[in-house]
Amino acid sequence: PFVVTENCIKCKHTDCVEVCPVDCFHEGPNFLVIDPDECIDCTLCEPECPVGAIYPEEDVPAGQELFVALNAELAKEWPVLTVRKDPPPDHADWDGKPNKLPLLER
Ligand code: SF4
Ligand code: F3S
Repeated sequence: PFVVTENCIKCKHTDCVEVCPVDCFHEGPNFLVIDPDECIDCTLCEPECPVGAIYPEEDVPAGQELFVALNAELAKEWPVLTVRKDPPPDHADWDGKPNKLPLLER
């Protein structure tokens, strides 16, 4: 499956959700995740993310491997999102910022 990684935190553009043919994105307060049990590896979402936060599981950047399990866990808790919404007003301030994981809201 594909995985949403750290750079989505506090950027949350949501462009990704509209292209997913199986509606497997789930929305939290400041991050999205992909349900690995539903993702069919169609690849459509990866280029849609303006901040490059989506990777195939096997290509998740070094140090971000825990996002694989985090997507699986949070997809069970958060509701599905299928329609794009506006990103947070300060999204640009957070693009590429390191160590955003402690800022993830549940
Ligand atoms: Fe959805 Fe395809 Fe992305 Fe998987 S790879 S989350 S099926 S758009
Ligand atoms: Fe996040 Fe990128 Fe989607 S910032 S919400 S993975 S478009």
